Amino acid sequence: MTSGSYAASITDSTDVFKNDIFKGKVLFCTGGGSGICRGMTEAVMRHGADAVIVGRKLERLTQTAKELSAATGRTCIPAQADVRQPKMLQDAVKKTIAQFGRIDYVICGAAGNFLAPISGLSENAFKTVMEIDTLGTYNTVKATIAHVRQSKGSYIHVSATLHYKATPYQVHVSAAKAAVDALSAVLAVEEGPHGVRSNVIAPGPIGNTEGMQRLSNLADGNGSQTPLGRVGEIKDVANATVFLFSEAASYVTGQIIVVDGAMEHMRHFQ
Ligand code: HXC
Repeated sequence: MTSGSYAASITDSTDVFKNDIFKGKVLFCTGGGSGICRGMTEAVMRHGADAVIVGRKLERLTQTAKELSAATGRTCIPAQADVRQPKMLQDAVKKTIAQFGRIDYVICGAAGNFLAPISGLSENAFKTVMEIDTLGTYNTVKATIAHVRQSKGSYIHVSATLHYKATPYQVHVSAAKAAVDALSAVLAVEEGPHGVRSNVIAPGPIGNTEGMQRLSNLADGNGSQTPLGRVGEIKDVANATVFLFSEAASYVTGQIIVVDGAMEHMRHFQ
């Protein structure tokens, strides 16, 4: 799927929300250069926000930022950072504040994944995914929290559903995402008194994503085993994002919103 068609599908879908609900707001999104997080960013921008997308690959970020700005009429800028490096994230936050003066919404989406059995997983491979997914989330929260408190803003952490049951070849990601879920809940409780919300979106199999390609041996590729009869689309996650950041979700915090067509519930009957 081309980036142009992401734009078209998200526009159609987010028409159910008011156009300007995020006017004057600023989103900081790790992993926003591609895939699900790119779609989440685009949806928030389509409702009026400016955005900073953060990732390791500057060339891809720069191209995506250009495309998102053109598609939405808002401003998106790239900030190169590896979420494992706190200093790089702090610099990305400084760049955001210099450009936009505030941070309202944060998406912690940078993630790493591959299929490997425990017996074939090196210590460094396990550690790498823990560091990108879990430590990277912690680093992103630490780098942004002062600004998010100031704006009484909101976090969304992109997790998964595969750790709800034991998923083979996914011990590294399962451990990492379980920790992300826990981190978000603690963040919601600690930061609630400051007016900050924190929620998790847990996507099931989402079509046309790198994650789906990497997990194609595990995932239900055409959605035939899913109660809704289809795999998820990026716009499904994008719409949940718009809801969670919006005032409609102002009393929703510390929650995990599963976007999987009831796939996880189905597993109980298999
Ligand atoms: C076993 C592997 C491996 C594989 C890498 N490693 N790939 N081990 N099987 N397929 C090992 C390496 O051998 C090395 O260990 C260690 O992992 C680190 O690898 P590097 O390549 O040095 O790390 P790095 O360059 O930082 O790359 C990180 C990465 C990579 C996670 C390995 O795949 C990556 O950058 N991914 C980002 C994009 C991505 O994964 N997107 C999908 C997210 S999907 P040794 O011991 O040799 O040093 C997602 C959704 C989950 O998260 C839920 C879906 C339902």
